[in-house]
Amino acid sequence: MKVLFYMPHADARAWLNDFARALPEADVREWRPGDTAPADFAVVWRPPREMLAGRDDLRAIFNLGAGVDAILALEHEHPGMLPRAAQLIRLEDSGMAPQMAEYVSHAVLRYLRRFDEYQMLQNEHRWQVLDPHPRDTFIVGVLGLGVLGSHVAHTLAGFGLPVRGYSRGMRVVDGVATFAGQAQFDAFLDGVKVLVNLLPHTPDTRDVLDVHTFSKLARGAYLINVARGAHLVEQDLLDALASGQLTAATLDVFREEPLPPDHPFWREPRITITPHVSALTLREESVAQVAQKITALIRGERVSGVVDIERGY
Ligand code: NAP
Ligand code: GLV
Repeated sequence: MKVLFYMPHADARAWLNDFARALPEADVREWRPGDTAPADFAVVWRPPREMLAGRDDLRAIFNLGAGVDAILALEHEHPGMLPRAAQLIRLEDSGMAPQMAEYVSHAVLRYLRRFDEYQMLQNEHRWQVLDPHPRDTFIVGVLGLGVLGSHVAHTLAGFGLPVRGYSRGMRVVDGVATFAGQAQFDAFLDGVKVLVNLLPHTPDTRDVLDVHTFSKLARGAYLINVARGAHLVEQDLLDALASGQLTAATLDVFREEPLPPDHPFWREPRITITPHVSALTLREESVAQVAQKITALIRGERVSGVVDIERGY
């Protein structure tokens, strides 16, 4: 069995060594431009079109992340490019859910306890006590209740905060009030104080963080975007901060990454920026998950995490 590996900026030797240990019978090689030799599986992150186009020998393509928007964008630009017979399978948690819960909890608690404002006061050497946010109206709304969103929502509920969650189909998450579908979108947003985005980037969710969405939130709400930059209408965020409809935002993802040095977000003190690190792909956990699924597919078993290409996630 032959496996192609491609992950820019990764320590390819370490990944290949881990795959060799997890799948001793497999021949796992790093894909390089021009490599058209046969392969049964591909394990990739943001692959170039040339790697996958016309590879009808592939049985499955494993995406080394939760979001498959980069691969589906290739297919959108070059219809028919993805090997028809190959399943596209994304990572499910594999160590990302706890990281995401840490990141989002930190951001929510920072706003709840007004540490962002205390930092600004400290910068001015000012000793001033701020009124606490009332906990019962500090409603956190989580967009997306999938593998990551449901874990994040459940973790936040553990702090005793009122938490809502929104998905396409109705989901049940312990301690979380859930809403589903476009018809319940405005009811979900109504009065939310912190909006957390964990939706996949699809044609349906692009630009979802816009002036309409912000206008439904509580006055002076907060935004935490950890999903994709394409979800956010950037000017609408700047306008909402200027008008006071939003108080602050924490952004981990951007339309253009790295965020260009002259981007206005860098100059806005109410925006906190991190470089797409809220949940990193962990090598050990990811290799174990992919190897287990390859083994199952070879045995003829079904696996979870298969992407619905039409749906986009
Ligand atoms: P997932 O398990 O596929 O969950 C997606 C959730 O979004 C599901 O609850 C789904 O609803 C909901 N959804 C999809 N389209 C919707 C729509 N049009 N309206 C309402 N709800 C919709 O994905 P995941 O593993 O949790 O990951 C979520 C995203 O996080 C990824 O796609 C990726 O972009 C991002 N991410 C970012 C980082 C980072 O470091 N910044 C790391 C990992 C992942 P149903 O439950 O009804 O299907
Ligand atoms: C990272 O952004 C991922 O989708 O896993």
